[in-house]
Parts: sequence; structure tokens; C-alpha cells
Amino acid sequence: MTVTMDKIVSLAKRRGFVYPSSEIYGGINACWDYGPLGIRLKNNVKAAWWRAMTQLRDDVEGIDAAILMSPEVWVASGHVENFTDPLVDCRECKARFRADHLKGDPTDENTPCPNCGRKGTMTEPRLFNLMFKTFMGPVEEDANVIYLRPETAQGIYVNFLNVQTSSRQKVPFGIAQIGKAFRNEITPGNFIFRTREFEQMEMQFFVKPDTADEWFEHWKEQRLQWYDTIGIRREKLRFHEHGPNELAHYARAAYDIEYEFPFGWQELEGIHNRGDFDLTRHQEHSKKKLEYFDEPTKERFLPYIVETSAGCDRTLLTALVDAYRIDEQDGDERTYLAFHPTLAPIKAAVFPLVKKEGMPDIAHKIVDELRPYMEVFYDEKGAVGRRYRRMDEIGTPYCITVDTETLENDSVTVRARDTLEQDRVNLSELRGFLEKRIRP
Ligand code: GAP
Repeated sequence: MTVTMDKIVSLAKRRGFVYPSSEIYGGINACWDYGPLGIRLKNNVKAAWWRAMTQLRDDVEGIDAAILMSPEVWVASGHVENFTDPLVDCRECKARFRADHLKGDPTDENTPCPNCGRKGTMTEPRLFNLMFKTFMGPVEEDANVIYLRPETAQGIYVNFLNVQTSSRQKVPFGIAQIGKAFRNEITPGNFIFRTREFEQMEMQFFVKPDTADEWFEHWKEQRLQWYDTIGIRREKLRFHEHGPNELAHYARAAYDIEYEFPFGWQELEGIHNRGDFDLTRHQEHSKKKLEYFDEPTKERFLPYIVETSAGCDRTLLTALVDAYRIDEQDGDERTYLAFHPTLAPIKAAVFPLVKKEGMPDIAHKIVDELRPYMEVFYDEKGAVGRRYRRMDEIGTPYCITVDTETLENDSVTVRARDTLEQDRVNLSELRGFLEKRIRP
């Protein structure tokens, strides 16, 4: 079975995961809205990341920094100077591309335009800064220009000493943050893979310089393993090491974790050894000392930073693509999302077999009892088979049916989405039965 992006985009829209932004106005390029199931899925992605990166560790603290920062931050970080992509236009069809995404040198007369196919029609590449600008305050003049942050990392660096002193952490320790980032991408696309507004899940780990290589290896492994805990198939993931020409301006070493999307192997997350680039630059530009004093050794130094930087929307897309399955049931094709229970937007659906004999009342009571502990959904419309299919398609791992046997002995049928196995479970044990199976 091949998963196509058309199938994913269509299911995502139809079932309320992701809609085009401002759709009634014709949409706005590269911006998307998350619907009722999409926001549940997104919250579950973030909660799984936050749990792994902060709750389960005592050496990582969390923060939530402002999106708008002093413009000087982006001069210090190198974004004003270096956060650029080479842009080319086709002189014939006027389409615009990133020069490094073309098949061939843009100045070569044999390089075709990916849009109209004509050869040798590209303009000379020119550098385009990807940061969105706006104005702070009522006067729109250059002195008031500020930027929408293109990464969340800088909010962590400028708070390094605040967090270290207030939480009394000692190097090595990390700071984690989840938040929006904005990039005026030249060629956004592939649904929510590359957008202009997105969320990042970033963690910056501050270490003694001579231990940076060790921590880099540690975080590479930790991050790869995390995808296992949210059910992403290992064979669909790989590392890609950045060569000297690919390294970002701040990086000494970098690996991407890549996923095999329907459009090829692409970056899902970056792990970078940023050295002391960021703290040095912020120290220079802010004129505030950012050194750390190590009490046991009496050493004063600027820590090196090992960064893990994952895209939340990209992880959500990965989860959708990876979970998409089609099988055959009783001669019919069944589409289902085999989400890991941690990510599933709805953990259990409750159905009365028929709308009589008090079954809806019992089903409602089950929903009320489970609701404080997990996302549940009540459905009494249509044949039970159809109700199962609707839940399979949105990745609900368990469906609970109240039937005639329930009236006799207080037990219900619990049907598992992937195996289709059915268990008979007593009502008094139902919550424990489900919690054991959906626990992270
Ligand atoms: N602080 C380092 C940094 O931002 P990056 O490789 O530019 O590194 C990290 O971005 C991650 O953020 C990427 O691996 C990707 O998951 C996500 N990301 C970056 N640009 C994106 C975009 N335009 N749309 C969606 N996700 C994006």
C-alpha cells in the first residue's frame, strides 16, 4: 500500500485534523489551521515531547519566552546577516524558487524551470532574508522594526543565566521550549511539512566545552529513541550528517533525523553542536557577562550548547503518514490510522448496540466515568460496523460496545483497532483495562 499526500490531505480535511487557513477567502499560502482532532493530536505530540524532555529528567527545565524579542537578538544570532536563501525567478512564467532546490545550476542554460519546463530562463540568484518584519509601536519607521522569531532557540539563550540561577541548575543542564516560529519560506509546500508559521520543540543543553562531543552523541540517541515512544516505525527513520557545505552558520556538527515521507527522505529534526557561538555573540552584543562559574573546579567558562530542534507540525505530519493503513475486512477496504495510543486524539469510543433497552443510558454513564481520565467519544448513529469504521479512520484505539450481555452481567465488548480482537471486560475494571493500554 502506498500512502500518497493526496490521501493524507483529504483525510485530514474531511475528519477535522487540518484545514487550509482562511479557506473561505481562498486560503493563504503555506498557513494551516488545526481542527478538533488536529489540535488534540498536536497537543498529544507536544505533551509526549515535554514529558520526555522535562518531566522524565531532572536536568532540563522548561520556559515559554516571548515571540517578539529585541531586534538586537537577531543581529547577535547572525539571522539578520545569514538567515537567507538564494532566490531565483523564471523570466518566462514568473514562478519563484530556491536556487538550491533546482535540478542544476540556475545560471546554466540547460537547467529547466520546475514550473514551465523551459530551459535557461532563471534569473541570477539573489539572497532573500527569511525573517518576517513588523513594527513595534504606532510609528512605522525603520527604527521600530522588529522580527517574528524564526526559531525559539534565541529565547532560551538570552534566558540562560535567569534559568540557571532561579532553578539552581548546574552545568550540564538544559532548557526546553515549545512555541511558534515564523519563516518567509520561498518554496513552502508538501502540506504542513514546510510552512510559514509553525511550531518548534527545542531544547538547548549547556555543557562544559570538553564534554560537548559526548553530549552530542547522547542527545542523538535520545532523540531517535523518542520517535519509538510515539510509535513511528524505526525503518522509516535515519540519520543524515551535515557535510561542511550544509552546516548552518552556528553549527560545528549537525545531524538530521530524517523520515521517509511520500515525497522522499526529509528532515524531521536537527541535532546540533553549536559550540559557544550563541553565548559568545549574545555576550558581545548585550555587553552582559554570560559566563558560568563552576563551583567545584572554580572555573569560569562559556558553556557549549548541544541543541535538539524538532518541528511540531512536521512530527504531526509524520505521525499521520506513518499511521496510515489500508486493509480488507469482510471484503471491504478499511482505512485506519494506527496511531500509538499516546498520540491518538480519542482514546476510546462508546457505543450502545441499539438505541433502546436502556443501552444509551449505560453508554452515557460509561462516557461520564471515563471522561476525566481520557478523551472519549459517544456515538449511537448508524450500524455498529460503520461506527467502528469512523473511529478506525481517526485512529481511536478502542471501541466499547454496550449490548444485551451488558444488561445481564455488567460487561462490555472492547474492540482493539489494529488486531480487531474483542475482549469482554467488566464495567468495574474498564477504566483500569484502558488506562493500562493507553499509558505512555
Ligand atoms: N534552532 C535551530 C533550528 O531552527 P532548523 O533546522 O532550521 O533549526 C528545526 O529547524 C526544525 O524545525 C526542523 O527540523 C523542522 O522540523 C522545523 N521547521 C523548520 N522550518 C520549518 C518550516 N518552514 N515549516 C515547518 N517546520 C519547520
